Amino acid sequence: MSSTLFRTKKVEQSILDTEEPEHALKKSLSALDLTVFGVGVIIGTGIFVLTGTVARNNAGPAVALAFVVAGVVCALAALCYAEFASTVPVAGSAYTFSYASIGELPAWTIGWDLVLEFALGTAVVAVGWSGYVASLMDNAGWQLPEALSGRDGADGFGFDILAAALVLVLTAILVLGTKLSARVTSLVVAIKVTVVLTVIIAGAFFIKGDNYDPFIPKAQEVPAGDSLQSPLIQLMFGWAPSNFGVMGIFTAASVVFFAFIGFDVVATAAEETKNPQRDMPRGIIGSLVICTTLYVLVSIVVTGMQHYTELSITAPLADAFKATGHPWYAGFISFGAAVGLTTVCMILLLGQTRVFFAMSRDGLLPRFFSQVHPRFKTPHRPTILLGVLIAILAGFTPLSELAELVNIGTLFAFVVVAIGVIILRRSRPDLHRAFRTPWVPFIPILSVCASLWLMLNLPAETWLRFAIWMAVGFVVYFLYGRSHSRLGRQQETEVGQVVKPPNGSEG
Ligand code: ALA
Repeated sequence: MSSTLFRTKKVEQSILDTEEPEHALKKSLSALDLTVFGVGVIIGTGIFVLTGTVARNNAGPAVALAFVVAGVVCALAALCYAEFASTVPVAGSAYTFSYASIGELPAWTIGWDLVLEFALGTAVVAVGWSGYVASLMDNAGWQLPEALSGRDGADGFGFDILAAALVLVLTAILVLGTKLSARVTSLVVAIKVTVVLTVIIAGAFFIKGDNYDPFIPKAQEVPAGDSLQSPLIQLMFGWAPSNFGVMGIFTAASVVFFAFIGFDVVATAAEETKNPQRDMPRGIIGSLVICTTLYVLVSIVVTGMQHYTELSITAPLADAFKATGHPWYAGFISFGAAVGLTTVCMILLLGQTRVFFAMSRDGLLPRFFSQVHPRFKTPHRPTILLGVLIAILAGFTPLSELAELVNIGTLFAFVVVAIGVIILRRSRPDLHRAFRTPWVPFIPILSVCASLWLMLNLPAETWLRFAIWMAVGFVVYFLYGRSHSRLGRQQETEVGQVVKPPNGSEG
């Protein structure tokens, strides 16, 4: 049985599958498209919303260091993703990579995990977007009824109609084709980057040195309460749960990690890239470097504009400008955030449908979902199914802890990809690798340790939810995927042929 659970799909077979006409995606993306895609999905709720929350609750001005820590963890993973994406340019990202290196069960696990990451990530960002739009509408004197704004604290029924509507509109755009969505993305990304640069350049004039004192606030014990809220690492070692100090930087890093999610989505578009061997590594690493630099600068500026204890937790960048007496900038930033978050949502949704598509093409999910649309050449069925489900989820979900659940799922994928690089180097040294991760196995091992470290800094409660989701995944695999696996069926046929050779001799 273990041999079937760890059966691997040949890299050549994965590439061949993409060439079957009714399952083939259009190859239309360049390195620049990919970088724009990357920046489009990476810069979002993380920098626009979470910066204020973690500066206030966990790290103070040292939130800039938390961004550096999270950026380093992502850079290590990016080196592994880049090698895989340039070797196995097939839709499905970490899922496809693991299928080619470790085996079917780990691949299923990671695919199931990515569904969690992208679906919840899309929902979280849609809800963040709706908050910004609602605040812009408030400024203009329009207000939605409370039951349709999905606000926390509304009594009884609450449905975030804006968040749900956004997801449905984006679903329609994605069904019409990736190239169209890449064009829409470019425009929105330009607006978003302009807003972020405005924060950095204009904000730099309003920095007060006193606000950086103390840069790393002293550790503060948190009152004993629900222990499940504490980072797992603190519970494991029996440390008194605390905020701020050096450990606070790591707690903050495990949360602001959300701000980096998305560069791995670039890898999910490998199959739609014109020259994946060259463009994938450029797209992934390029977008990551740009975003890390912007994040560190934004967080330094914002914590310099306003004391961390006073930062807003809903719209920290805009409110820091209001606090220094510049409401015009605040309006502009809110507008940019509302526009910018749309692309984040769209690309997370895109990544999600592509993973689902790849799993279905392999027979681990019903094959019905991997027929591409005859005219648009997009996987319209999973896009519509998942779009509708996520719209419902976004309508009913409050923001808060879900971001942490998304983070743990993504970090888990990083761990598997890094291990996969080491395994594939050994099992298939012959494969052409346009991009090679340097110092293998050192960098992948470091990447595994760094990702695990951030995972351990997430609350115990997040681990529990993650475990439940993964347990459901195992049930689905053993009830459906294992027996419907296309690879499994092919192998059974081959074994049958070997056992009963037509001419009585093997092979
Ligand atoms: N990185 C994306 C964001 O911050 C998911 O919204």
